[in-house]
Amino acid sequence: MRAIVYDGTSTKLIDGITLCDPGPRDVIVEVAAAGLCQSDLSYMAGLYPVPSPGVCGHEAAGVVAEVGAAVTHVKPGDHVVIATLSACGMCEPCGDGRPTACLKTLGGSRQPFTTSDGEPIHTFASTSAFAERTIVADVQCVKIPKDVPLTSAALVGCGVVTGVGAVMNRAKVQRGQTAVVFGVGGVGLNVIQALRIVGSPTIIAVDTDPSKEQLARQFGATHFINGTDDDIPAQVGAICPLSPKADRGWFNSGGVDFAFDCVAKAPVTWNALECLDWEGTAVIVGVAGQTDEFNGLYSRLTQVERNLIGCRYGSISPHRDIPRIIEMYRQGDLLLDELVTAAYPAEEFNTAIEELRAGSVARGVITFA
Ligand SMILES: NC(=O)c1ccc[n+]([C@@H]2O[C@H](COP(=O)([O-])OP(=O)(O)OC[C@H]3O[C@@H](n4cnc5c(N)ncnc54)[C@H](O)[C@@H]3O)[C@@H](O)[C@H]2O)c1
Ligand SMILES: [Zn+2]
Ligand SMILES: [Zn+2]
Repeated sequence: MRAIVYDGTSTKLIDGITLCDPGPRDVIVEVAAAGLCQSDLSYMAGLYPVPSPGVCGHEAAGVVAEVGAAVTHVKPGDHVVIATLSACGMCEPCGDGRPTACLKTLGGSRQPFTTSDGEPIHTFASTSAFAERTIVADVQCVKIPKDVPLTSAALVGCGVVTGVGAVMNRAKVQRGQTAVVFGVGGVGLNVIQALRIVGSPTIIAVDTDPSKEQLARQFGATHFINGTDDDIPAQVGAICPLSPKADRGWFNSGGVDFAFDCVAKAPVTWNALECLDWEGTAVIVGVAGQTDEFNGLYSRLTQVERNLIGCRYGSISPHRDIPRIIEMYRQGDLLLDELVTAAYPAEEFNTAIEELRAGSVARGVITFA
């Protein structure tokens, strides 16, 4: 079969890859579609401390092809969203419904793929979705109804859960609270629509690409600011002023309740903190290089009790949150089909990468049909 492999230097579509047989708790999934997330590009750029060569891709939906002897919750033919969390199910965070804090979900890798030359290939993010078939732990397969298009469902596996979970699980935004969202990509659009769903009256989208304004507004943004402007906190302050008399007050109070940084570059994180009101929270969702630094003013934190927090994978519990997200989609509240603006056959994955880099897509998916 074919798979897209990063070898530590470059990324290629390789034919003749074989997949091992499933262990007792493994599931083999025929991948129908796999989203291309910025995190795939980071892996292909060598930014993550994980092994290579590896089969890329970590955001997918597909059809169960084979199950191990101990797997009971899915069977061949079922449609599933693959979650990247290969959680143990037995540690304290798992028992507490917080599998994103399960130690087994970070750093683990196996080598279930083999090239025609006999070279073993690693998994990436426990998923490796850029392959005709992949192997995952049973806990990673969340069964979904067959009326949900698999190309749309694919995005649930990362971009959607990350954005929606950042709002609903990590930040716990309440109806009436305001927010700014930096980066209107696959993740940021889901932050924006989750804010709309929870009832945020002011949702300010910021992107360096002005063509993202239309998409941002379609998903729920009430305002758009060009990310290249040098007065973004001032513009946010004007939209959400401290009082009718002054945009800002002590310790820069005034501004929004939440700032979601879906970019993770130092100037963006600085702006995120500068946009916050008293008791506001900046949520860092973007993933930067391992040694990248950011800075900020101490005076923005202490006296006004602001918060700076990170959010991994929407702090989700897949078997609770993915069915809820699918239900929000079926009710018409959550947009999924509109997120997929391009589908690429596997041999055109370089075009998919270029178009993600150029920002010309909301989300592109790769297919192996
Ligand atoms: N926390 C997690 O678990 C998690 C999960 C998935 C992705 N991510 C990360 O989230 C980030 C976003 O991923 P994505 O797939 O949405 O990327 P994307 O490429 O689809 O979107 C990024 C957007 O940010 C915009 N942008 C770039 N620089 C900007 C700036 N200085 N100011 C404002 N906007 C700017 C781009 O124009 C683009 O629209 C990435 O860093 C990715 O690795 C994190
Ligand atoms: Zn991702
Ligand atoms: Zn665990």
